[in-house]
Amino acid sequence: MHVLTIRRPDDWHLHLRDGAVLNGVLPHSSQNFARALIMPNLVPPVVGAADAAAYRARILAALPEGHAFEPMMTLYLTETTEPDDVEAGFRDGLVQAVKLYPAGATTNSQSGVRDIGKVSAVLERMAAIGLPLCVHGEVTDPAVDIFDREAVFVERVLAPLRRRLPELKIVMEHVTTSDGVDFVRAQAANTAATITTHHLIINRNALLVGGIRPHYYCLPIAKRESHRQALRKAATSGDARFFLGTDSAPHADPAKECACGCAGIFTAINTMGCLAEVFEQEGALDRLEAFVALSGAAFYGRRPNEERITLTRQDEPVRFPEKIWTEAGAVTVFDPQMPIHWSVRDA
Ligand code: NCD
Ligand code: ZN
Repeated sequence: MHVLTIRRPDDWHLHLRDGAVLNGVLPHSSQNFARALIMPNLVPPVVGAADAAAYRARILAALPEGHAFEPMMTLYLTETTEPDDVEAGFRDGLVQAVKLYPAGATTNSQSGVRDIGKVSAVLERMAAIGLPLCVHGEVTDPAVDIFDREAVFVERVLAPLRRRLPELKIVMEHVTTSDGVDFVRAQAANTAATITTHHLIINRNALLVGGIRPHYYCLPIAKRESHRQALRKAATSGDARFFLGTDSAPHADPAKECACGCAGIFTAINTMGCLAEVFEQEGALDRLEAFVALSGAAFYGRRPNEERITLTRQDEPVRFPEKIWTEAGAVTVFDPQMPIHWSVRDA
């Protein structure tokens, strides 16, 4: 197959940042994606409905002419989040999800949740009104090995939460382990998981073999090969509980290439080509549309997009830019370390 036309995709986990970085990265998502769930971990974070409305307006103002793109807003859950504010944002059609960051788990998560008991009232309200909770599924206990933090989170936090609030819609964001995949598979349809582009392509060797490669550092950290295989199986299975959230997370190069580099991989530019390559390798090109354009929309109760995009396959590998230049500096683009033959045809 050399040409594939599918519904315009949605990205159910995207970091756009703000200001100069926003201006630099947004066009690369809005070019191909119709909608994206916008992560709220700005500094300071997007905690209230008013913050989300203001951030949404800044995103819309940064959109290039002619790009139709809907930013779907999320709130950053803190131990002082007010259930009424969350509900008001939801009733206005502004807030599509609330994001739970365990405090200290990842980039800009310091204002996140230390004691999940302190957010019970918000979670109960969300369960009652049907507002999804997106979770960064890693424990922060210093005694837990970084490669085990997701599996331990499932056991210590996610499974008990799932039992306590069976009505709550939960998305395990950027699942990276077979433990996470197995957990989701064992639940009803109101538990789902997003999978990133890069976790389908790299394992932890990309990060550590032959030298330390900071542009492959992200959280949750890439795991061993057997986990990557489990993610590929889940993504290409057609199971509607697994859908795309790129977690494209730009950081300017100096913030990654230093003694204590930031976590995050920028994939907005080549995500669709990389995914087509992965699905082709798995003999599942016919399921790409479900993963990128149908299953996520169904989970969030949205209609799939009516517009289409066309992906084409060329014999010579596609050359994607190595970096983009934003007013906040250069940002390195994800290098999949394998030839990519697919790209989105210009509309
Ligand atoms: C994200 C970021 O940079 O904001 N980083 C990452 O490694 N994925 C935060 C996150 O989603 O964990
Ligand atoms: Zn993220």
